[in-house]
Amino acid sequence: MLIYAQNLAFWVATCYKTRVIPADEFRRILGHFATGVTVVTTCGGEGQPTGLTASAFTSVSLDPPLVLVCVDHTSQTYPSLLERGRFAVNVLARDQQEVSRRFASTRLDKFDGVPHRISALGLPLLDGALAHLECVTVRTHVEGDHTIFVARVERAAGGSGEPLLYYRGRYDRLSGVNA
Ligand SMILES: Cc1cc2nc3c(=O)[nH]c(=O)nc-3n(C[C@H](O)[C@H](O)[C@H](O)COP(=O)(O)O)c2cc1C
Repeated sequence: MLIYAQNLAFWVATCYKTRVIPADEFRRILGHFATGVTVVTTCGGEGQPTGLTASAFTSVSLDPPLVLVCVDHTSQTYPSLLERGRFAVNVLARDQQEVSRRFASTRLDKFDGVPHRISALGLPLLDGALAHLECVTVRTHVEGDHTIFVARVERAAGGSGEPLLYYRGRYDRLSGVNA
């Protein structure tokens, strides 16, 4: 048991230090996993809307309703997400590729000219999104160069339409074949 524990400690201590795969190659391989595209929004300390494009979003639990999003520590939006403790997930529609590009940039005027409203919970909701989820962070986990925000969904609404997809570094759309 002791030996096992020692081995485990050794493994845990080294698993982040040993680079088993170059970062660019890792990103390329992960790109084979097709995802939807979201814009995660919140407000900064002075109430200004802020946000970033994120595909590392998933459901976690139905009861209670929990989701998670993984955010890079270098993201400008990251401090506001931590401080505010709440965020909205805007699930982008097929025709919102430009919105995705805009929120995947580091420009400071991302919301200029992008129709949106501030919800009753004080969160920016983008017009034209397929779905909005308004979330309160219940836990954060620092893992490598990202933080996982686990959050309880307080309000959610979804409409009709087709999603924007991201696959192997490119935007895509459903083919319309429902196999
Ligand atoms: C399709 C797509 C998905 C992305 N997913 C994530 C993600 O899940 N988490 C993340 O931290 N960054 C993700 N990014 C990168 C951020 O959007 C990008 O770094 C952005 O500039 C961050 O903006 P900010 O620094 O103003 O917060 C993604 C980019 C694209 C194009």
